[in-house]
This record gives sequence, structure tokens and C-alpha cells, in this order.
Amino acid sequence: MTDKAHPANGKGSAAMHDQYAVINIRDITKTYQMGEVKLNVLKGISLEIKHGEFVSIMGPSGSGKSTLMNILGALDQPTSGEYYLDGEDVSRLNERELARVRNRKIGFVFQSFNLLKRTTAMRQVELPLIYNGAADRRARATAALTAVGLEARLDHLPSELSGGQQQRVAIARALVGEPAIILADEPTGNLDSRSGTEVMQIFQRLNREQNITTIFVTHDPWIARHTNRVIMIRDGNVVADRQVAEPLVAGEAERPSEAEELEGIFKEAYYGGKAEEYN
Ligand SMILES: Nc1ncnc2c1ncn2[C@@H]1O[C@H](COP(=O)(O)OP(=O)(O)O)[C@@H](O)[C@H]1O
Ligand SMILES: [Mg+2]
Repeated sequence: MTDKAHPANGKGSAAMHDQYAVINIRDITKTYQMGEVKLNVLKGISLEIKHGEFVSIMGPSGSGKSTLMNILGALDQPTSGEYYLDGEDVSRLNERELARVRNRKIGFVFQSFNLLKRTTAMRQVELPLIYNGAADRRARATAALTAVGLEARLDHLPSELSGGQQQRVAIARALVGEPAIILADEPTGNLDSRSGTEVMQIFQRLNREQNITTIFVTHDPWIARHTNRVIMIRDGNVVADRQVAEPLVAGEAERPSEAEELEGIFKEAYYGGKAEEYN
């Protein structure tokens, strides 16, 4: 952790941009008051995510992943701590300003696609630009759909697309506003393994070719191994934060029939190595 990546220092030249922390959270906590009881869901999380990183967030159910993603996505505010997103102190913003940040800086991809049923792929991708009042909507939506390999499906409705293709429309929709970050919550969770691989290929390619900062939650260690950095959360704390030594290339390696071997890699960090906790 360095303070060099403080946003005030990072906005300089294109060369600087590669080291610039697009996300910088400092000692974030989130507490829910449940009647008499205080629930400390995030207990002081600090993270820097640099421009162009491809990060997965893992952790057991209830560990605070969605709470953290909601804060990163400017959908919710932390109880305490600071959050700089692309140079802006998001933790001080009101609801209206948060909405502006979401609209301009963040692309969301959800497990369940969240597409409009009676709306063509083109229109789905144009919509965020309409809200933004952007020009060249058609050209930009076409480019985004082309980037995810759907240039021949512009006029299709979701019902005329496979699950993997629907998720690709959702990725195009997330991309089209040129966000600072893409946040994806279990983006492959509802897909069969072949479609999941296609989606991972797209995320990897966008990250490699366009240097798009991508953060996603996954329960799947195999999927996580396709990203460059794995952050593990347990009980509201970061318990591990590691670079993936040799990220897998989507579509090249076979998923092992037994996940145990991979689980072993993560077991220690996840569960502190105590077998009785996870059986
Ligand atoms: N709005 C809320 N009000 C009260 N408790 C919440 C709220 N959102 C989440 N929680 C609690 O916070 C903890 C972490 O939830 P969450 O971030 O959804 O975990 P994860 O996504 O890792 O499964 C859980 O115990 C959950 O019940
Ligand atoms: Mg969750």
C-alpha cells in the first residue's frame, strides 16, 4: 500500500494513468442497526485497485462481499472510512451525486443479466446513453455490441438470445458509457460452463485490449483463477489479497472435474486451514 496513488496525484499523463488507483478505499466500515443489535458487516477494509486491474472478490456467504460491492458501486455509503473513485471522494456525496457517479463512472453486470424483456439488444445498450444525453448513440451501441461479438444480433430480443449472449448484451450495456470500472456480481453464476467461458473470454479481452478495470464477485475458484488478483473476505475483513501467479486463459484450460485441488489453494486463506469449519 502506498499513498502515491492518492487520486490527487494520479490524474496526470497517460503514462501515469497505468499506476493510478482508480479505487482507493481507506478503512471502510459498514454497520447495520438491527433493533438493539449492531451488525458490523465491514470492519475496516482498505484497498487500492489500479487502473487496468482485473480483480475477483471471494468469500463465504455473509462475509460482506455484496455490501462491499454496493459501496464500490456507489449504491450505498460506508458508515465510516473514505472512498475515492477515479479521484472523487464518493464517501461524502449525497444521493443525487451518487447517482451521477454511478451513471458516469460505473458499469454494472449482474448475475441475472437484468435486461428489459421487450427491448432489442441495440436499444438495451443505447439506454444508458439516453440517460446520459450522449450523442452518437447508435454508433456507440453498435461498437459496444461488436466488442462482445454480437454485431449480428443487434435487433434480437433477450428471448431470442442464449444466456451467454444475454450476458454479453449486459456487458455491452455496462461498457458503452466508458465507465472507469466495471463491477460484476457473479456474472457467470447463471451460465452453463461453455457460456461462462465465453463471458470470461470477453472480460479478459476487454481487460487486455482496452485496459478496463474489472472487479467481480465469484464463488468459483476456477473462475477466480482467470483474474489477475484475488481478494478474499471473511467476516468483514480482507483475509487475503494476492496476485494470481499465472492467470488461466479462458477457453484454453479444461475445468478439472474435481474442484478439490483448486479449493486446496484457497482453503488456507479462506478458512484458516481448520477443516472442521468448512465441512
Ligand atoms: N440492509 C441490510 N440490513 C441488515 N443487514 C444486512 C443488510 N445487508 C446485508 N446485511 C447482513 O450483512 C452481512 C453480509 O451480507 P452480504 O454483504 O450480502 O454478504 P455476502 O454478499 O458476502 O454473502 C450478512 O450477515 C447480511 O445478513
Ligand atoms: Mg452477496
